[in-house]
Amino acid sequence: MTESSDLRMNRIPLTHGAGQMPALGFGTLIPDPAVTISATKDALEAGFRHFDCAERYGNEREVGQALQAGLAAGGIRREDIFVTTKLWNTNHRPERVEPAFEASLERLKLSYLDLYLSHTPFAFQPGDDPDPRDQNGNVLYDHDVTLFDTWRAMESLVKHGKCRAIGLSDITLDTLKPLYDAARIKPAVVQVESHPYLPETELLEFCKERGVVLLAFAPLGHGMKPGLLEDPTISAIAARGGKTPAQVLLAWAVQRGTALLTTPTTSARAKENFDISRLPEDAFDEINRIQIRQRLNPVVNTGVPGFIPQSR
Ligand SMILES: NC(=O)c1ccc[n+]([C@@H]2O[C@H](COP(=O)([O-])OP(=O)(O)OC[C@H]3O[C@@H](n4cnc5c(N)ncnc54)[C@H](OP(=O)(O)O)[C@@H]3O)[C@@H](O)[C@H]2O)c1
Repeated sequence: MTESSDLRMNRIPLTHGAGQMPALGFGTLIPDPAVTISATKDALEAGFRHFDCAERYGNEREVGQALQAGLAAGGIRREDIFVTTKLWNTNHRPERVEPAFEASLERLKLSYLDLYLSHTPFAFQPGDDPDPRDQNGNVLYDHDVTLFDTWRAMESLVKHGKCRAIGLSDITLDTLKPLYDAARIKPAVVQVESHPYLPETELLEFCKERGVVLLAFAPLGHGMKPGLLEDPTISAIAARGGKTPAQVLLAWAVQRGTALLTTPTTSARAKENFDISRLPEDAFDEINRIQIRQRLNPVVNTGVPGFIPQSR
C-alpha cells in the first residue's frame, strides 16, 4: 500500500496476480430501488471505484443500470472499476454455482466479475425461496453440501476466466483455516464485519501473513446510534482533526490495512466518505486502544443476514 496521507486512491494487491482492490468500497445493500440507482451513481461520481453487490440484495439490476449509465456519463472504463457480487446460500450445490454466477452477471450487465464471494458459509435448502423455513420458522439448512464442494465450483469460475478472484464472506477464522489449506485457488478476500468495536485482529493477522485482503463491512457500525459514530474517542479525534466521525472511522480501517465497504445514500455523504486521509499516529493508536467489543450482525453465526430488506 502507498504511504501517502491521501487514502482515497489506496489499492490493495490481490493474490495470484488478480489485480488490485480499491480500498474504499461502496456497498449496495440499499432497500429502495430508486435510491440504489441514485446512490450508486453518486458514489461513482464522488470517486468510488469499488462496488460490492449480492444476489441476495435483490437489486443487481438497478446497480447494473446505474453503473452502465455512470460509466458512460463519466467516461470511465469497465476495467477502471472493481465489481464484486456474492453467491447466495440457496445456491451452494456445485451444479447451481455457475448458473447463479451467470444470472448475477446478466443482471449487473457485466461480462466478467473482479471478485465472487460465497455470501455466507451456510448452505440453505436449494430452490427459489432465498429464506427457506419450516412451519415453525426455522431455517432449512442443506446438510448435503460442504463449503468445500461449493468452493471447488467457484474455483472453476476462475479457471474459465469468468471472474478474476474468489473469496468468502461472513467467515470465522476456524472455518477459514481448513478451507484455505485445502483450496487449489486460495481465497483472495474475506469480507467480515469489522470496526473499532470488532477489530478481528487475529483474522487480520492470518490474512496479512497470506496476502488475503480483509474487506470490512459496517466500518461505521451500520450507522447505528448510539454507536461508533457517537463514540467519545472517535468524536474527539474528529473534532481535533477537522474531520467527521465517519471520515475518522473509514481512515482507521484503511490505515490498518483493510479494505472497507460503506453505504452513503446521498451525494454529500458519498463525497464525505470518499474524502479520507491518514490519521496522526497518536489518534490511530488511541482508536486501537478502545476496549468496547460488540458484534452488530449475527449473520456469521446463522447465515441469516441481519440487514436484508424483508420486502425483497
Ligand atoms: N457480507 C455481509 O453479510 C454484509 C453484511 C452487511 C453489509 N455488507 C456490505 O457492506 C456494505 C456496507 O454496509 P454498512 O451498513 O456496513 O455500511 P456503513 O457505511 O457502515 O453504514 C451505513 C449506515 O451509515 C450511515 N452513514 C453513511 N455515511 C455516513 C456518514 N458520513 N455520517 C453518518 N452516517 C452515515 C447510513 O445512513 P443513511 O442511510 O442515512 O445514509 C447508514 O445508516 C453494504 O452495503 C454491503 O455491501 C455485507
